[in-house]
Amino acid sequence: METCHIPAVRFPACSPQHQFNQSIKKASNLQLCSNHINNNNNIRNKNGTEKRMFILGMGYVGQFVAQHFINQGWDVSGTCTSIAKKEKLNDMGFEVHLFDANNDHPPKLEVVDILNEYTHILVSIPPCKDIGDPMLQHADLLKKRLNNECLQWLCYLSTTGVYGDCGGAWVDENYQPNPPTELLKLRLAAEEGWLRLGHDLGFAAHVFRLGGIYGPGRSAIDTIIKKGALSDVQRGRSFKKYTSRVHVADICNALNESIHKPSPGRIYNIVDDDPAPRTEVFSYAHKLISEKWPSKIKKVASPATNELLTGEGSLRGEKRVVNERMKKELGVRLLHPSYRSGLQSICDQMHNYPISSPHE
Ligand SMILES: NC(=O)c1ccc[n+]([C@@H]2O[C@H](COP(=O)([O-])OP(=O)(O)OC[C@H]3O[C@@H](n4cnc5c(N)ncnc54)[C@H](OP(=O)(O)O)[C@@H]3O)[C@@H](O)[C@H]2O)c1
Repeated sequence: METCHIPAVRFPACSPQHQFNQSIKKASNLQLCSNHINNNNNIRNKNGTEKRMFILGMGYVGQFVAQHFINQGWDVSGTCTSIAKKEKLNDMGFEVHLFDANNDHPPKLEVVDILNEYTHILVSIPPCKDIGDPMLQHADLLKKRLNNECLQWLCYLSTTGVYGDCGGAWVDENYQPNPPTELLKLRLAAEEGWLRLGHDLGFAAHVFRLGGIYGPGRSAIDTIIKKGALSDVQRGRSFKKYTSRVHVADICNALNESIHKPSPGRIYNIVDDDPAPRTEVFSYAHKLISEKWPSKIKKVASPATNELLTGEGSLRGEKRVVNERMKKELGVRLLHPSYRSGLQSICDQMHNYPISSPHE
């Protein structure tokens, strides 16, 4: 992937030097963006090297994506809902704006206007109960104030949950979604809303339907280390025969490819090749921990025998999600085609046993 040459030095987000840099950058970018419309697949603006991403929802995925693109020289900022989180993210070096759909009615114009300064937008906020998509509830305002002078590409992060109960069948993007809950119905409406907005305003909007997201800090390994046992919800899910999942690094991987191959209005399943049952995943995680820290894990009962009782073989509510389109059209080569390499890499990155074990 091409990279532009934004100086590597990063000042703490709140330092005077950083603020000065930001205001200079903003002034020049506004001019750059308002001067022309980029209609080709090049992620640069016509007379610059602008690669600017705004992430609505700097949660788990948002932060990984932000770091991934910052490492490649992008200018990235985003939103979170609380001052405490904003300060934490600022300390990590991220530039963040406050946006809470439950409080901001309509969204602060500055948040909407700020979107116009970015070439790429990632929407990572889930729908809210009774509201739907927090931004799209103000679709008219967005239509009025958003323009495509700078904005080229948008991706809405959705979930494979919209397919609903598929009786264990393999489902691709042509499968008719049948969202089983109110929130998933709102999710489907949000997908449609963002694609429509892209169409109406003339930028390339995409939907990524993600499987269960895992990665460093959020995996079977982390669950076993932190809790030793599963929550009731997790235990319930253990009865599932198939769970589609995706490592967060592969979400970044797929976003990268999509940015280079925009396909307006397209929906992609973003999952790995191996919709294995959670029992299997937790057993493997347990094995990795036992091998790496034998003295820490010895008092934890193996989840395969203790925690994860496989249920009777009903396939109600189950599905296996096909990822062919992601591979063929976007050219994604999965970093972690199975939970095995994903968990292995998470374990390899943990140099010390992360916390004092509650099991000792
Ligand atoms: N977890 C999974 O396995 C999974 C699977 C498929 C799809 N997804 C979806 O993929 C997306 C990214 O997942 P994730 O795990 O990174 O989610 P996450 O960590 O929960 O992050 C969600 C982000 O949305 C923000 N947000 C939540 N409610 C908001 C509201 N009312 N107004 C404004 N912002 C709000 C949160 O703000 P704060 O940072 O202030 O909390 C956070 O930044 C989400 O839409 C998620 O539902 C998740």
